[in-house]
Amino acid sequence: MKKLSQHYFTSPLLVLILAAYFIKIASAACHVDDEAGLLGFKSGITQDPSGILSSWKPGTDCCSWAGITCLFDNRVTSISLSGQLDKPNSFLSGTISPSLSKLQNLDGIYFENLRNISGPFPDFLFGLPKLLYVYIENNRLSGQIPVNIGRLTQLEALSLAGNRLTGSIPTSISKLTRLTQLNLGKNLLTGPLPVEIKQLRNLTYLNLEQNKLSGTVPDIFNSFPDLRILRLTRNAFSGKIPGSISSMAPRLMYLELGHNVLSGQIPSFLGNFRALDTLDLSWNSFTGVVPKSLANLTKIFNLDLSHNSLNDPFPQLNVKGIESLDLSYNNFHLKEIPKWVTSSPIIYSLKLAKCGITIKLDTWKPAETYFYDYIDLSENEISGSPVALLNRTDFLVEFKAAGNKLKFDLGKLRIVKTLKELDISRNLVYGKVPMAVTGLKRFNVSYNHLCGQLPKNQFPASSVVGNDCLCGSPLPPCKL
Ligand SMILES: *[C@@H]1O[C@H](CO)[C@@H](O)[C@H](O)[C@H]1NC(C)=O
Ligand SMILES: *[C@@H]1O[C@H](CO)[C@@H](O)[C@H](O)[C@H]1NC(C)=O
Ligand SMILES: *[C@@H]1O[C@H](CO)[C@@H](O)[C@H](O)[C@H]1NC(C)=O
Ligand SMILES: *[C@@H]1O[C@H](CO)[C@@H](O)[C@H](O)[C@H]1NC(C)=O
Ligand SMILES: *[C@@H]1O[C@H](CO)[C@@H](O)[C@H](O)[C@H]1NC(C)=O
Repeated sequence: MKKLSQHYFTSPLLVLILAAYFIKIASAACHVDDEAGLLGFKSGITQDPSGILSSWKPGTDCCSWAGITCLFDNRVTSISLSGQLDKPNSFLSGTISPSLSKLQNLDGIYFENLRNISGPFPDFLFGLPKLLYVYIENNRLSGQIPVNIGRLTQLEALSLAGNRLTGSIPTSISKLTRLTQLNLGKNLLTGPLPVEIKQLRNLTYLNLEQNKLSGTVPDIFNSFPDLRILRLTRNAFSGKIPGSISSMAPRLMYLELGHNVLSGQIPSFLGNFRALDTLDLSWNSFTGVVPKSLANLTKIFNLDLSHNSLNDPFPQLNVKGIESLDLSYNNFHLKEIPKWVTSSPIIYSLKLAKCGITIKLDTWKPAETYFYDYIDLSENEISGSPVALLNRTDFLVEFKAAGNKLKFDLGKLRIVKTLKELDISRNLVYGKVPMAVTGLKRFNVSYNHLCGQLPKNQFPASSVVGNDCLCGSPLPPCKL
């Protein structure tokens, strides 16, 4: 053995191998500027309870640190750090140190769901000439988007979604003409959607949802030949749906304008969006009838027109597999649950509250019930019993049918483990309240004909009042 190892140590081949090994080590070690820049970033982080940066140790090769990618002569080209939203201690506190400007070859910064990174927009980004992709999402950046954001002309994607940015969207953003993705959603931005944004002709994705943007939606959508996803939900946009939206047919896949103050009629050109997956016009002030042309939206999966002032007749759609539908709280009198809903093999959410439905629920035989999570049939004139339906929905989370004429024995209703909310208030339900309901988050059987002692529960009195002879907490005690 000894002899062999001696021979080994003097072998010229071994010398060569060792030399190659050390050269490799030397070239694998990251550039001193990159290491210094990253350690500077780490020192700006005050809390890292789940150890996201625990592999970032001085003197070790920074190209092997968590979240770091090196290319081209071992210069750091991207930093990608993300917190896990399902783990409460998976976050970083602190600020983004400007020392990251030492990473001169950086092309991508991805700081996602780190939740507690605060401070203003990181100005050092202006000093990174190769930067193409910026995703600083779900953190706590505050202050305004810099007015000279347009200097980052090389950017191809910019997301600052889920921060606390205030002020208006700077018009100079229109200089970022290479952008294919722009996401400023879930901030506190105010003011209008600047018309100048029409210069971003290469956008495929534009998301400004959940801000406080106002004014009309500008008529600029003939400038986005490649746009597939448009999200303007939950702002304060007013006026009509601009006509230029029609020029994005048939390619647009997501059109989300819900929770604004838009008005006027739903334009019939929406029927030309043959690729539309999701149409959300909910919680606006749309009036008139739903155009017949929507029958041509054969690929639509998610349709939400709820909380408007739309009138009959609702068109017969030709869609094979609707996944979620909400037509609640308009002026519809559908009488029946539409056939294209009943026949869907993949539906998981059906909300038809106050839709003028007059069926006997036992006669409704949906083709599929396996995927159902949400059913809301409140404020209709539905009679009969939901017992057979709930016997077939194994993963139901919410069942709401308040304000109908349902007449059944509550003791026969199957309460599946997944169920969180049951509201069958203001019906003709009789029998006793079963033990199984005590596991629900929300429960309402008020104003029915129930009787007997309530099982021990945490529900407020308004959940159980107005019955014939229910007793026990939170109602008065039962008489013995
Ligand atoms: C978030 O960061 C702030 C200061 O940056 C700190 O005071 C606070 O404790 C942090 N929050 C959590 C949950 O650690
Ligand atoms: C937009 O995309 C096209 C095609 O990918 C490309 O040729 C053009 O240079 C892009 N425009 C800008 C301003 O980057
Ligand atoms: C559906 O599209 C076809 C072809 O473009 C058109 O002829 C028809 O009128 C459309 N249907 C409705 C109801 O608008
Ligand atoms: C509920 O389903 C079970 C088996 O899946 C069946 O035996 C029972 O008769 C059903 N009850 C009602 C009321 O449909
Ligand atoms: C239960 O329903 C009644 C009538 O629908 C309503 O007035 C009451 O606020 C509801 N209570 C709860 C706890 O949901």
